[in-house]
Amino acid sequence: MKFFVDTAEIAEIVELNALGMVDGVTTNPSLILKSGRDILEVTREICDLVDGPVSAEVVALNAEDMIAEGRKLAKIADNIAVKVPLTWAGLQTCKILSSEGTMVNVTLCFSANQALLAAKAGATFISPFVGRLDDINIDGMELISEIRQIYDNYNFDTQILVASIRTVNHVTQSALIGADVATIPPAVIKKLADHVLTDNGLESFMKDWAKTGQKIL
Ligand code: E4P
Repeated sequence: MKFFVDTAEIAEIVELNALGMVDGVTTNPSLILKSGRDILEVTREICDLVDGPVSAEVVALNAEDMIAEGRKLAKIADNIAVKVPLTWAGLQTCKILSSEGTMVNVTLCFSANQALLAAKAGATFISPFVGRLDDINIDGMELISEIRQIYDNYNFDTQILVASIRTVNHVTQSALIGADVATIPPAVIKKLADHVLTDNGLESFMKDWAKTGQKIL
């Protein structure tokens, strides 16, 4: 499973990229706001840092303007994936931009039928939001299983990009189900390394090592 980093903060991307953890980046209007940066500038910087797909989201609501925004964003770099919402205008935009050879990430997906439409419109990625479903008491991971089965039934090429990840368990479940990509906030990526038995084991090894009186360096 590929790891995309769900942030527009350059410092966070640089840190994780150095560890080889960054297969791509996703941004959205809220993350651009949080970064305090200009969308075109920060997206260009991210594309220079990362080889994989970098999602940049359109903000128009009608297809004509969405297509124009998407074309402008796509010009930033070859690794841009234009992010469009799962609306009819978004699906129209997806069809046109993908037929022009631009990667398209269809976002704000909350049902299997929406994911089916995105695949038929030629989406490169579908972004189902698991955390926001969990927030309203619907099992977000169940949606990932449904989409996996539907895409496998018909050999759709659209990659399942699990979004709105809030916990390390979302990451485990995504990998078990066979999602293609998980876009993960940096803090959750760091938590993946945590285990209480690792901490306890290290503490006891350090105590015993001190008793040996030895040094390696
Ligand atoms: C990424 O593509 C999504 O925009 C993001 O994961 C949404 O996460 P949130 O539900 O925590 O805002």
